[in-house]
Amino acid sequence: MANNKLIVANWKMNKGLVQSQQFADEMKLYLEKHKVIEADIVLCPPFTSLDAVNKKITGTQIKLGAQNMYFETIGAYTGEISPGMLKSCGCEYVILGHSERRQYFNETNAVVNKKVLIALDEGLKPIVCIGENLQEHEDKLTESVIDEQITACLLHVSEEGIANVTIAYEPVWAIGTGKNATAHQAESVHNFLRKKIKKMYNEEVSKNIKIIYGGSVTPENAKELFTPQTINGGLIGGASLEAEKFIKIINASNIK
Ligand code: PGA
Repeated sequence: MANNKLIVANWKMNKGLVQSQQFADEMKLYLEKHKVIEADIVLCPPFTSLDAVNKKITGTQIKLGAQNMYFETIGAYTGEISPGMLKSCGCEYVILGHSERRQYFNETNAVVNKKVLIALDEGLKPIVCIGENLQEHEDKLTESVIDEQITACLLHVSEEGIANVTIAYEPVWAIGTGKNATAHQAESVHNFLRKKIKKMYNEEVSKNIKIIYGGSVTPENAKELFTPQTINGGLIGGASLEAEKFIKIINASNIK
């Protein structure tokens, strides 16, 4: 299992061009002062800031990701963004199936699966989000919900493809609520996911796949959440909007 944690900033629908550039500048300044931070860092700004942020972070250790994309490569799909367009802006990663996409834009597992397959075909690394909602959590359905989501979202993903997939376990009840899962809860779901991946692929894949946690990660709880070896990093929403907070979270992930 790789040691560096993967820390992903999901800005959601926040920050215009100027604010995005300011954030990238602050991160760059910090990295210049501190040389290399031992973490894999990805910024996922809104589409409208991708190119500008890319220009700022080129040559640094920071990678670029998008928050969504469409599952076709070209054509008459007004308002949609293709994988190739993301690549042309410098994206290496793309978040797919975020619970807000599922909740507000009716994205089903089948849609997420189409997106995962095309992202991989086009050379992007999908960060596939799964997680149970509050009711399912209270009804102790977490494992069955996640089992169904992962099976459907990774349908027809080859062993070669899965090597480029990151899974983000994001309990919906923890997103933007200030109520994070405990490290113990997240660890147990991550272990369940690895067992599931082992069944779907093999032991090697299940050991190597990055599974990150998302849901109310803050500078205060990050170290605890990132301590279990099976938690390979975090998908950070609210706390990724200020460079200072985000940097604290990155630093907390450097667990030796
Ligand atoms: P949050 O969001 O950190 O604000 O809870 C996480 C996410 O939605 O990815």
